Amino acid sequence: MNNSQFLSKCTADAIGKAASQLIAGHLVAFPTETVYGLGADASNPEAVRRIYEVKGRPMDHPLIVHISSMDLLDVWAINIPEYAIKLARDFWPGPITLVLKRSSEARDFITGGQDSVAIRVPSNPIALSLLRTFESKGGKGIAAPSANRFGQVSPTSSQDVVSELANYLIEGDLILEGGKCDVGIESTIIDCSNVIPKILRPGAITKEMLEDATEIYACENSLSDIRVSGALEKHYAPRAKVILDHIPQSGQGFIALSKFPTPEGVIRIASPKDVVEFAQILYESLRKADILELKEVVVTQPIGNGLAIGVRDRLKKASMGL
Ligand code: TXA
Ligand code: MG
Repeated sequence: MNNSQFLSKCTADAIGKAASQLIAGHLVAFPTETVYGLGADASNPEAVRRIYEVKGRPMDHPLIVHISSMDLLDVWAINIPEYAIKLARDFWPGPITLVLKRSSEARDFITGGQDSVAIRVPSNPIALSLLRTFESKGGKGIAAPSANRFGQVSPTSSQDVVSELANYLIEGDLILEGGKCDVGIESTIIDCSNVIPKILRPGAITKEMLEDATEIYACENSLSDIRVSGALEKHYAPRAKVILDHIPQSGQGFIALSKFPTPEGVIRIASPKDVVEFAQILYESLRKADILELKEVVVTQPIGNGLAIGVRDRLKKASMGL
């Protein structure tokens, strides 16, 4: 089987077809500004079941519902606190997911049986266009986890999706080609089901940005009892062993800001100029380590707050449990 058979260029026609395929119960992988998502109609239990099957993800892990605008929030959530409305107004469309009390539309197969639902309006124009077209055909939201096999590195290009998932897709499923993702790591997730916001997963919308917008101190993830698959110990992990903040030795891969020189014999995988570029190239660099069949890759982590916290969070998980 030709693995590229599912790939589709993003013409208006292709987006229309993709929206129809979603309505018909098929899966469509699509670009977002963070990472590629594997989408299904969030109101269709059979379609959502296939997401779990294709990803190899346990059934009780909840999914993010993507919508085209905050006007549709009420379809999926109830009792939305004032500060969550503020976050939606300030940061949507964009790389932030809000966890809210669920409405009756958010059924157990989306929420993993929890009383809350995760919702996001992505800013990538292809994602937004797909959502609008899907909604114009009667759809209410697209459930989409990152388009990788469970526990693997998230995809930041359509080719990554092909190599992760093409063997598990069936006729009628599609992968929309939309170039490389701008942000490169998954959205910030904020639990808005309490009186103050709680950061469950750090990302491009930083703690400082949240606090400025809401004028409330945000608390941080304490590995709560909420099931967040990204909070599992080993995640975002390549086959190569990821070693953090060591001096790289000959034969090892090396990912570090460009200001760090490459010692002799070390295989330089990436030299991002700043933390924004670090996030962009992080997953493709970890994939590259595997393509090069490296046993070990040393990463010099970016210091500081903001996006660097999200990058270190993913690196910590990539380096654990091996
Ligand atoms: O950037 C992103 O968020 C990407 C793109 C495709 O939108 N999506 C993504 O989905 O990263 P996924 O499934 O790989 O990660 C979503 C995380 C999971 O860790 C899941 O457990 C958590 O969101 N989540 C979903 N619903 C939740 C809920 N009701 N309460 C707490 N966490 C939830
Ligand atoms: Mg994921």
